[in-house]
Amino acid sequence: MSLRLSDTAPDFTAETTFGKINFYEWLGNSWGVLFSHPADFTPVCTTELGTVAKLKPEFEKRHVKVIALSVDPVQSHHDWIKDINETQNTVVNFPIIADPVFEVSKLYDLVHPNASDKFTVRSVFVIGPDKKVKLIITYPASTGRNFDELLRVIDSLQLTANYSVATPANWKHGEEVVVVPSIKTEEIPAKFPKGHKVVKPYLRYTPQPNL
Ligand code: BEZ
Repeated sequence: MSLRLSDTAPDFTAETTFGKINFYEWLGNSWGVLFSHPADFTPVCTTELGTVAKLKPEFEKRHVKVIALSVDPVQSHHDWIKDINETQNTVVNFPIIADPVFEVSKLYDLVHPNASDKFTVRSVFVIGPDKKVKLIITYPASTGRNFDELLRVIDSLQLTANYSVATPANWKHGEEVVVVPSIKTEEIPAKFPKGHKVVKPYLRYTPQPNL
């Protein structure tokens, strides 16, 4: 069964480059990002892991812990990390799961046999503090992920978890948001005292409420 949005993220215990980790214990009350890679010593993945290492302060600012996964053994990960640090001019500062027998990969539906039965697909999951899956994106092996987009979605998820708003197309932190349809227009002034703009009865803008 494949994982879907709002499903509970499967728990697991796995060998990682930071030692054995129980996923739920490691997450604690944080948000989590789990991202998978086709294999070690591959070019796109090398750039992705370097990019995430550089963005770690941005994830931490949002109380998000990041963990990578690839099906190679842990010693291979350690050897690869040396290359990543050297070529991407960074220090990989988050754990990489070693999943040689596909235990975690199967839980997260990361083996798509028509793509490959040997390698995991390039997927990313955002998991909330309630351990529910908030976002799933699967990319082609040939396309590196945009981690700024991932941070943007996390900003939206964290905002919309606390306020009755949604974020419009291409929204970025600090921009106007839309009021969700369940809020009546006459209720908006009390809920959103910074002001609002009614463009259509169903399209109501308000400044980002948590700033
Ligand atoms: C990569 O991560 O670089 C990659 C993996 C599989 C196919 C193509 C590129």
